[in-house]
Amino acid sequence: GEQTVAAVLDSGLRGRGGAAFPAGIKWRTVRDTPQQQKYVVCNADEGDSGTFADRMLMEGDPFLLIEGMAIAGIAVGASYGYIYVRSEYPQAVATLREALDIARDAGYLGANAGASGQAFDMEVRVGAGAYICGEETALLDSLEGKRGIVRAKPPIPALQGLFGQPTLVHNVLTLASVPLILAKGAPFYRDYGMGRSLGTMPFQLAGNVRHGGLVERAFGLTLRELVEGYGGGTASGRPLKAAQVGGPLGAWVPPSQFDTPLDYEAFAAMGAMLGHGGVVVADDSLDLARMARFALQFCAEESCGKCTPCRIGSTRGVEVIDRLLAAPDQGRRDEQALILKDLCDTLQYGSLCALGGMTSYPVASALKHFPADFGLAPSEAEQ
Ligand SMILES: Cc1cc2nc3c(=O)[nH]c(=O)nc-3n(C[C@H](O)[C@H](O)[C@H](O)COP(=O)(O)O)c2cc1C
Ligand code: SF4
Repeated sequence: GEQTVAAVLDSGLRGRGGAAFPAGIKWRTVRDTPQQQKYVVCNADEGDSGTFADRMLMEGDPFLLIEGMAIAGIAVGASYGYIYVRSEYPQAVATLREALDIARDAGYLGANAGASGQAFDMEVRVGAGAYICGEETALLDSLEGKRGIVRAKPPIPALQGLFGQPTLVHNVLTLASVPLILAKGAPFYRDYGMGRSLGTMPFQLAGNVRHGGLVERAFGLTLRELVEGYGGGTASGRPLKAAQVGGPLGAWVPPSQFDTPLDYEAFAAMGAMLGHGGVVVADDSLDLARMARFALQFCAEESCGKCTPCRIGSTRGVEVIDRLLAAPDQGRRDEQALILKDLCDTLQYGSLCALGGMTSYPVASALKHFPADFGLAPSEAEQ
């Protein structure tokens, strides 16, 4: 167990669900807790727009995930695991359930899982279609049979998670990276990537792109290589306008920033994020003011309601954009734009979780890079 945790730490593996937290630190935290009952939870809610890597893995190679989870469970001292799959993925659920039976029959799960001398078993649970249930603490509430509402942290789930017990929560791709790390060694894995973004990532190309699909590459290739090289540019053949990276609450990245490497830190430095690796491409016919409004509307609909900036601010944000777009003159548009930017700050810094926090990304990036879509002059929007 100790050696497995050390290998995961040493590999530099970071969570693939969005927050990119070092996996090994979580493993160590859970392993070091004294409790008898611990859990491993796999987050397969995959709610981000344009993402499908979790689904492809669960449907195409379910044993990789099962093996990664069993290794994690045995290493941290957990005896039971849950895979929380979104209801929109019936094929993944059926495939996983069948694979679990096969793994159990072969002795990889059960009282002496994989001849480890430890018990480990797991089951699949199906979500009910709420975006917020992808957030780890809301997911735990949902697994406990409650309505998914975000829990305040601390305590972190690694110390007090499912049913109050220490819980290791990871995305599908994080857990599925573990068998390779152990088979080939941490240095092999660490050799891929750049900076602190190590290993490979299955980037997912979707939207208005000629060749959509999954491109697994080491971190560090540029967004341009991905969208123009692999993707072949827009499907419509019209000029590229932007790509939304990291889900429905990711920033809109303009082509002038397409030479940025796909690296967690490089994206954070320009006010964006890689998230789960989803890239949605748009041509010049897309109106980004409409997309900014959509992000706020999405936040209003998906908010769990626990904190004020997100619960109320999202609805007020939709109203501000509507006022901005209907404003009769430049002066009043500028006034509404300032209110909108203020609201973005409140959402970003005042929200309890990243649902409210990240809603500012698509709105602020659209305002900053595409002021004309809001009827604003460039200089004022850049203020
Ligand atoms: C609103 C919201 C939705 C999220 N949805 C997902 C999701 O669908 N899948 C996922 O793996 N992580 C999602 N996350 C991130 C999880 O909270 C958590 O960070 C992740 O499951 C941890 O696993 P990792 O360390 O492997 O990334 C979401 C976070 C937020 C705030
Ligand atoms: S930011 Fe939104 S989703 Fe997150 S805890 Fe607050 S109300 Fe809930």
